Amino acid sequence: MSDIYDFNGKNYCVVTYGCQMNLHESEKISGILDNMGMSAVQSPEAADVVVFNTCCIRDTAERRALGNIGKMKELKKKNKNLLVVVTGCMTQQNGFAENLKERYQYVDVILGTHNISDLENKLREKVARKKRIASVLDTDGYIDDETTPVTRTSFPNAWVNINYGCNNFCTYCIVPYVRGRERSRTPESIIAECEKLIKDGYKEITLLGQNVNSYGNDFGDPDVNFSDLLRSVAEIEGKFRIRFMTSHPKDFTSDVVKAIKSSDKICNNIHLPVQAGSNSVLKNMNRRYTREHYMSLIDMIRDEIPDAGITTDIMVGFPYETEDDFQDTLDLVRRVRFSTAFTFIYSVRKGTKAADMPQIPYEIKQDRIKRLIALQNEITEELSKAYLGNTYEVLIEGTNEKKKGFVSGRTESGRLVSAPGDENLIGQFVNIRIDKCKNAQLTGEII
Ligand code: 5AD
Ligand code: SF4
Repeated sequence: MSDIYDFNGKNYCVVTYGCQMNLHESEKISGILDNMGMSAVQSPEAADVVVFNTCCIRDTAERRALGNIGKMKELKKKNKNLLVVVTGCMTQQNGFAENLKERYQYVDVILGTHNISDLENKLREKVARKKRIASVLDTDGYIDDETTPVTRTSFPNAWVNINYGCNNFCTYCIVPYVRGRERSRTPESIIAECEKLIKDGYKEITLLGQNVNSYGNDFGDPDVNFSDLLRSVAEIEGKFRIRFMTSHPKDFTSDVVKAIKSSDKICNNIHLPVQAGSNSVLKNMNRRYTREHYMSLIDMIRDEIPDAGITTDIMVGFPYETEDDFQDTLDLVRRVRFSTAFTFIYSVRKGTKAADMPQIPYEIKQDRIKRLIALQNEITEELSKAYLGNTYEVLIEGTNEKKKGFVSGRTESGRLVSAPGDENLIGQFVNIRIDKCKNAQLTGEII
């Protein structure tokens, strides 16, 4: 097929919204475009192809993406050859792609989450046929795996998918609808990818899945499970760190804690979203664990690994949540003392069960989130003080954007730390003595 348009030598910009899974998928999008001979640029204004990799977990994410996609209309007037692509979770929602194609005439190609690897074909098809394309597959079982090229952008960390999709259908969540059922990669393919990454000089591997604890369940082979996978990755030679996310409290087991203890490489950092501290809210959310079970997991983790960094996701304003329910959440937060918590106002997602439940007024949700954030900030600050004067091994991730002449990185437990230094330190393990703390910010000296 002869191109009217030669992609070779053109510029592209990928705009990413959402979670780590999406960040990594954008690395695959970049890989495909680099392979076509294109170069990455930072701003859509300088690009010939702009790809929006969208998120729909909350209304705010969706609105932000749509707002920026809307700005392409003006840009297209200035640059007639500009190609606009929209992909990611948003496009995978029921009826969304057709709607977007009709209402946003300047969007050229729409792809779903299952066929990102088709990006090159669809771009070439669009310019050859001069026809706008919307192609969203609703098949499950598709694993976009070994064949898609990846241009990694997060050195010294590398994201590695271990399972895709989710079977849990928490009543608030759109993910199972846009990402399909759970599919695990084989241990062999995951380990081969990790081995190559370590050989290439990456110093940290983050294993990704919506629910890493159910890794391998779809194989029906008890020997394929998450804790064994962790141990196998840890057997790879070299100095590097292993992180993983996200863990689901209903599937989290002591085997994982034992695996963390068995190897210095596996970080003592566990992201364990609790969502709510009230049993009735947890039930309405279909989380399938109780507050008591969650607390027992925390006790088990702390008994085994006293300095573990435990982080969480919490939502307020879920349907039927009373002030007493919310007090249960605050109480759980006080008891657990998370190192950090990602807090969200519940956002109605069309097509999910909770969308049909009676909704709580926005003012109440806002009042609750403010109180929750204030409490967690207080706890984070108290915990930060315990770091003062101590020395931690930190993997330097980058220069500190807000503070010139400083670099930042994480402790094994996942706390962000910064210290004076330059970009030559990126990818190095250094020891930092903490001598200042302000809110969640820890600052020190490399010693
Ligand atoms: N509204 C608000 N927050 C949500 N999350 C998932 N769905 C919603 C929703 N509809 C949050 C959960 C999840 C995190 C990734 O996003 O806390 O753990
Ligand atoms: Fe969404 Fe629940 Fe699946 Fe997490 S476990 S992706 S919150 S449905």
